[in-house]
Amino acid sequence: MEESIRRLQQEIVEFEIQAQADLEAFRLKYTVRKGLIAALFGQLKSVDPADKPRIGQLLNQLKQTADAKLTEAEERLASTESSSSSNKGIDLTLPGRRYFTGSEHPVQKVLGEMKQIFSAMGFGIATGPELELDSYNFDMLNFPPDHPARDMQDTFFVTSGNPGSDVLLRTHTSPVQVRVMLDQKPPIRVICPGKVYRNEAISSRSYCVFHQLEGLYIDKKVSFADLKATIYSFAKQMFGTDVKLRFRPSFFPFTEPSAEVDVTCYLCGGKGCKVCKKSGWLEIMGCGMVHPNVMRNCGIDPEEWSGYAFGMGVDRTVLLRYKIDDIRLLFENDLRMLRQFGA
Ligand code: DAH
Repeated sequence: MEESIRRLQQEIVEFEIQAQADLEAFRLKYTVRKGLIAALFGQLKSVDPADKPRIGQLLNQLKQTADAKLTEAEERLASTESSSSSNKGIDLTLPGRRYFTGSEHPVQKVLGEMKQIFSAMGFGIATGPELELDSYNFDMLNFPPDHPARDMQDTFFVTSGNPGSDVLLRTHTSPVQVRVMLDQKPPIRVICPGKVYRNEAISSRSYCVFHQLEGLYIDKKVSFADLKATIYSFAKQMFGTDVKLRFRPSFFPFTEPSAEVDVTCYLCGGKGCKVCKKSGWLEIMGCGMVHPNVMRNCGIDPEEWSGYAFGMGVDRTVLLRYKIDDIRLLFENDLRMLRQFGA
């Protein structure tokens, strides 16, 4: 008996508990009610009464050794487990993750200002598709078939073959005028901002995609004087109160009469500089009175209604405003550029 106790004591001391599985094996083998220690206690009653106190004491020591070992192992495993799970996959020496705040694109900033000025004057906002029908981009706007005016705008055709139903990338925002007139009854007062596309040689000054903002006002007795007053008010708010305007006669198939509008160069104040090519003027838009044919094409009676329209490029204003010297920078989405326009 004494010998068995000593052997078990030795075994218990040498038992290695390194993982939960070892712990469980140890417990099942030695300390549970049907384990080896309990079995030895069971044999105590058949021990010679004279030896009982000594054997009993040895058994108690054995049990204490086993219990102590179990407790120690439980604590040790619990602590290594919790620290290893909280550290799992985390390298505390790594630098923190940086979050970048998005910012408004400079084109959107300028467009936003333009929209605000016109909405304060009572203009709503209309949009149309960038993939447009040939008929809306040209025919309905009074471009006769095969008329050289179509060559003013180098077109990206998407399909070709059926004149009028061809699909193209719109070359200007004017087809949105058509869509609005087909859709709404006058009075109409909208601006139509958006992207337009032209198959032009790409350079720092021109790109195959750019932005325009179109305006359309149709009501009773709208005159060219109304158009001038609106453009004046816009230009003062956009380019400064000292700005002067110049209306030059021009031609667009969809307006009659037509004009191009220049503002005094807001970089040199009209004295003449590199940007305005020493002229003192910068062209900002085309405009005119909506052609009666366009109204008729859209089901509006030109005897009853009249209106004006204008269309301006947005990108050049962005370039001048922020002193950006290459239009392509506006379309490359280079974060090094865009981050400079953060809030
Ligand atoms: N659509 C013309 C262009 O892209 C600009 C334009 C001129 C628009 C006169 C108009 C307008 O509405 O009346 O060159």
